[in-house]
Amino acid sequence: MQQVEHFLDANADRFVDELTEFLRIPSVSADPAYAGDVRKAAEFTRDRLVDAGLTAELIETDGHPIVYGEWLQAADAPTAMVYGHYDVQPADPIDQWISPPFEPTVRDGRIYARGATDDKGQMFTHVKSVEAWLKSVGKLPVNVKFVIEGEEEVGSGNLDVFLANNKEKVACDIAVVSDTSQYAPSMPAITYGLRGILACEVTLNGPSQDLHSGMFGGSVANPANALARLMATLHDEQGRVQIPGFYDGVVPLSEEERKRLANLPFDEASYLKGLGVSATFGEEGYTTLERRWARPTCDINGIFGGYTGAGPKTIVPASATAKISCRLVPNQDPHALTEALRKHLESNCPTGVTMEFSAYHGGDALVFATDSPWMNAAAVAIERSFGTAPVLIREGGSIPVVTTFRDLLGVDTLLLGWGQDTDNLHSPNERFSLDDFAKGIRASAYLWDELGR
Ligand code: BES
Ligand code: MN
Ligand code: MN
Repeated sequence: MQQVEHFLDANADRFVDELTEFLRIPSVSADPAYAGDVRKAAEFTRDRLVDAGLTAELIETDGHPIVYGEWLQAADAPTAMVYGHYDVQPADPIDQWISPPFEPTVRDGRIYARGATDDKGQMFTHVKSVEAWLKSVGKLPVNVKFVIEGEEEVGSGNLDVFLANNKEKVACDIAVVSDTSQYAPSMPAITYGLRGILACEVTLNGPSQDLHSGMFGGSVANPANALARLMATLHDEQGRVQIPGFYDGVVPLSEEERKRLANLPFDEASYLKGLGVSATFGEEGYTTLERRWARPTCDINGIFGGYTGAGPKTIVPASATAKISCRLVPNQDPHALTEALRKHLESNCPTGVTMEFSAYHGGDALVFATDSPWMNAAAVAIERSFGTAPVLIREGGSIPVVTTFRDLLGVDTLLLGWGQDTDNLHSPNERFSLDDFAKGIRASAYLWDELGR
C-alpha cells in the first residue's frame, strides 16, 4: 500500500493535467452537433484505461459508444464494476460562466468546467487509483471492470440493452459509482438511496399559426393560457402533487430513518442563502432533507410558446409546451405514473386546444441496506483517505442504471460521491475541488485494498 500511496503523491499533478485535458472535450450528449466530441471523450477514457494497464474497448451502440475495460487477474478475489459517464450536460446559459465551460480553469483550489464533478472528475478517480496499483504494486487486490457510458445525461437509452446482452461480461459482485456528493465539505458520505424519475413533454396546439391578439384574441382558445391553467392543476397550494394515484404505495419514512436524517447538521439560513431564495417551500410535515431525498415531486423543467424575444409582441400563440419531470421514491412505478400523468393532463386539458404528449425516460428509486460488508469496506476506505468516517445519506438525484445492476446482475451499488452539492452540476460554473479529487483517488485506492480482504 505504501508503494501505491507514493505513486499517488508523485503523480498528483499529472492526474490534474489529464483531467484538464479530459474536461476540454465538449462531450455534450444531448446535442447532435457535439457527437464527434462525445466520441473523442470515449476514446480518451479508453486510452487512459489502457495506459493504466487494463484492456479496454469502445462498444458501439445505436447512440454514443460505451467504454468497457477490465483487469481480471486477481484469482479468488471479488469483482468490482465501476460505472460512470463521460458525457456532460449542455453548458447553457453560457453567458453566466466566469470562465468558458470547456476551458478548465483553477480558482481557489477548484477546477471549473462543465463535467468537472458530473461526472468526468469523479469517474476519473477510479481510473487513476487502478493505475496507481498496477504501476506500483503491479497488480490489484480485486478484479475490476469499467462500464463508462456516454448517454447518462439523456436517459441511458442504450445501456440497458448492452448490459442485458452482455450479462457474463459485466457480471460482478459489487458496483461502484462516484456520481453523487459528499454531505458537506469535510463530511464525506455514502449514499444509500436515490430518487427515481420520469420525464415527459406536453404541447397544447391551437390555431395553425400565431394570430394578432387584437384581431382574433378572445374568439379562440389561447394555448399558452390553456397550458398555464393545465400546469396549475399539477399541485395544490401546499405543493402536494394532484395526479390521481401519485402517492399510492409510497413507502413512508421510518421513525429510525427520520431520526438519522434529523441528526445530520443542517443550517437552513445558509441553505437558503446558497440557493438565493428567502424561504423553503414544500410538502407539509417534512423537513427539507426529507423533502429532497425521500419524498416525490413533480416539476416543470421548462415552459415556452409564443413570443419569447425582447419587447412586446401581441399575439395568440399557435402552441405552448411544457417539459415536466417527477422525482420518485420507492414503490412508485415510473411507467404507471407516466400514464397517470398523461391521463390527468388529458382529463384537465382546457377546451379549444389539442394535446400532444411524449414520454422521455424513467427509472425506479432505490434504497440499499446500510449494513452490508461492502458498505463497511467503503466506510473504512473513506475514513482512511478523508480522515473522518462517512455519514449515511440519501440523495434526490437519479442514476437509473443502478436499478438495472440490482435487477439484472443482482448486485448492490456503492454510491461514493466525492463532489459537493455546491459544485453547480447542470448549472453555470460547475466545479470540482482538487482536494476532493485527490482524496477521492486515494479513497478508491483504499477501497480496492479493503475489498480484497
Ligand atoms: N450525477 C447525476 C445524478 C445525481 C446528482 C445523483 C446529484 C445524486 C446527486 C446524474 O448525472 C444525473 O444528472 N442524473 C439525471 C438522470 C436523468 C437524466 C435520467 C438526473 O438526476 O436528473
Ligand atoms: Mn452524473
Ligand atoms: Mn448529471
